[in-house]
Amino acid sequence: MRVLIKNDEQSVAAFAAEYIACRIKGHTGEAPFVLGLPTGSTPFKTYARLVEMYREGRVSFANVVTFNMDEYVGLDREHPQSYHRFMWDNFFGLVDIKPENANILDGMALDLAEECARYEKKIQWYGGIDLFMGGIGTDGHIAFNEPFSSLNSRTRVKTLTQETIESNSRFFGGDTSQVPREALTVGVGTILSAKEVLILATGSAKATAVKMGVEGAYNHKWTVSALQTHPHGILVIDEPAAGELTVNTYRYFKEIEK
Ligand code: GLP
Repeated sequence: MRVLIKNDEQSVAAFAAEYIACRIKGHTGEAPFVLGLPTGSTPFKTYARLVEMYREGRVSFANVVTFNMDEYVGLDREHPQSYHRFMWDNFFGLVDIKPENANILDGMALDLAEECARYEKKIQWYGGIDLFMGGIGTDGHIAFNEPFSSLNSRTRVKTLTQETIESNSRFFGGDTSQVPREALTVGVGTILSAKEVLILATGSAKATAVKMGVEGAYNHKWTVSALQTHPHGILVIDEPAAGELTVNTYRYFKEIEK
């Protein structure tokens, strides 16, 4: 695992945006780049930077197919807190991606299990995900793979933990009763099947999750720790998120990235 420690969240976003732009360059309609994407406050600035780069003519999403990580169960796609809305308002609607190429799980599907199986099949049809970008929850979850999710899991329905419900209630006016209890999410195995995985974490609230993911054991309690087994896993964090790493770990990653 590579761990890149940047000064602040702006530098994390700038790195992630440049990384994505560099990877998608040169792809064609016949061989599109397949990009896995998260929602949340962490990738917000990365999307803003990518939109800026698109407006400057430095990047195009015309030959990119995307698969979002997750979606709440029971929220209509027009609901202000649905991940559909987030993606269209903050990214897809502001760049040249073809609407049919932007895939997001349907949390309103009548048969949720079938929707998850369809999603996995569609990813396979495209030959798998080239680069999966993600964030992490305070409890170390990636996508909605809550603690004790199978590290081999694929796309499925997950019940959200109280910690996640409380943490995400900030988007629902602080009212936990408004936060859906379930979500559809790609599995840890789905993420690990991507050719590259880029996880972003910023702010001191993520420091424990970062420590457990980097220095802790490969363990289903902190699902981000599964990144340790990926041949091309990169964790990009800012100084506050690096706050609980031991001095030796911190120095190691700072040195090696010089
Ligand atoms: C949610 C999402 C995750 C995201 C996490 C952290 O639970 N399902 O994909 O990584 O929140 O969000 P934030 O970036 O807002 O801290």
